[in-house]
Amino acid sequence: MAKTLTIAPVSRLEGHAKVTINLDDKGDVADTFVNIVELRGFEKFCLGRPVEEMPRIVTSICGVCPWSHHLAASKAGDAALGLTPPPTGRKLRELCNSIAYTEEHILHFFFLAGADYVLGPGADYRTRNVIGIAQAAPEIGKKVVRNRHLGARMLGIISGKSIHPVTSMPGGFSKPLTAGERDTALKMAEEVLEFSKWGIAWAKSEVFPKYLDAVKTVGVIKTGYMGTVRADGSMDLYDGKIRLMKPDGSFEDFEDSRYLDYIEEKVLPWSYLKFPYAKKWGEGFSMDLDAPKGIYRTNTLARINACEKISTPLAQKELEEFRKAFGRPCHLTLLYNWARLIELLYNAEYAVQLLKDPQITGKETRVSAKPKAGRGVGHVEAPRGTLIHDYETDAEGMIVNANLIVGTTHNNAPINMAVKHAAKALIKGGNYNEELLNTVEMSIRAYDPCFSCATHNLDGRVAVKIEVKGPDGQVQRTLAN
Ligand code: MG
Ligand code: NI
Repeated sequence: MAKTLTIAPVSRLEGHAKVTINLDDKGDVADTFVNIVELRGFEKFCLGRPVEEMPRIVTSICGVCPWSHHLAASKAGDAALGLTPPPTGRKLRELCNSIAYTEEHILHFFFLAGADYVLGPGADYRTRNVIGIAQAAPEIGKKVVRNRHLGARMLGIISGKSIHPVTSMPGGFSKPLTAGERDTALKMAEEVLEFSKWGIAWAKSEVFPKYLDAVKTVGVIKTGYMGTVRADGSMDLYDGKIRLMKPDGSFEDFEDSRYLDYIEEKVLPWSYLKFPYAKKWGEGFSMDLDAPKGIYRTNTLARINACEKISTPLAQKELEEFRKAFGRPCHLTLLYNWARLIELLYNAEYAVQLLKDPQITGKETRVSAKPKAGRGVGHVEAPRGTLIHDYETDAEGMIVNANLIVGTTHNNAPINMAVKHAAKALIKGGNYNEELLNTVEMSIRAYDPCFSCATHNLDGRVAVKIEVKGPDGQVQRTLAN
């Protein structure tokens, strides 16, 4: 008998999602869907707002990723109003970005994904979480909590508050950093750097070696990649050209303002989340596992694949080691977690570097702005992938059009594909158990998705489908827009 398995809610990610696995008569996987069942809709209710308010409004999209939205909105405002922030303003933005990264990568690796690796995918689900890690390894638990907290404290010192920040704005940054504040933050940043060095060394010796088999079999899909690079090809998380890499490793770089020439978004009736694909490749869109079309990925592994090198020495060494072991591009989905620890190290190094830069305590942090009609695209690499904000303003500087493409949105198709790949590999002949279903979830978790950030389509193109079923379970009537 055909049967449907449901994983709901998928746990240890930001936002809400449900996985539906349809089994055929033999109990093998016929199809899978990752349903996103929430809606935020910021693209619509930002209309009519002054562009300078956008960096403060969009932080409410998400309590986990507020810094990425704050900075992308500021950069879209810079572009719309034709502003170039002074070097100190730009560096303060970059500093906050790097610190926010350390906080979020620690959150994901140790609090969300880590339990599957540290305790094992088949561990009792009641202990398979950060509390379970703290009980199994209290010293590690303490370190993790402390270092994530240090990130929040540094952001508090630099910008006044760590969540829902208000200090970045079109034209720069509103709050100069005093020498005293810098000294306090630098001590903390150096501690986070020590932690990040420990984190990747520990994971390489204690965690990853146990899972190399799973890494090679769960959620492996051959896709393209997206990341941001400097002119010399180094990874950059704040600014640069967007690099779109094909599955074979060839690539093209483009200015963020041209993103619509490269990416198109597909709407499918069973999800509030759109499906971006690489329009530029000219092959259309298909999530077929054997012959995918137009599919690329973002987030940690994608950036590690896209860049030539990393500008800080310790992270560069890790990149070389990773590449030697797994090649470029590396298509192994679970290695998003390994790539995440390389980025954690890079951001910790970069934060220390910026705090030691004499310009960081400069007094000139912004230029003033006047409202005007225009269009501005701003992007940053959010921890969860390339984040694009695109605003159009009228002569009063009010938003008349807004489009957001969020890191997780780019990964929508690949997440669906990785789940299908994992489910097909693991569930056979109707045999499944909690461990196997959690392993399917691991292939979603690797992407560190933030679904609360990613769903903004309110323009009626997304269908809400209502099925009316009779007492026998048969669909009597379907209502759809
Ligand atoms: Mg959009
Ligand atoms: Ni988010």
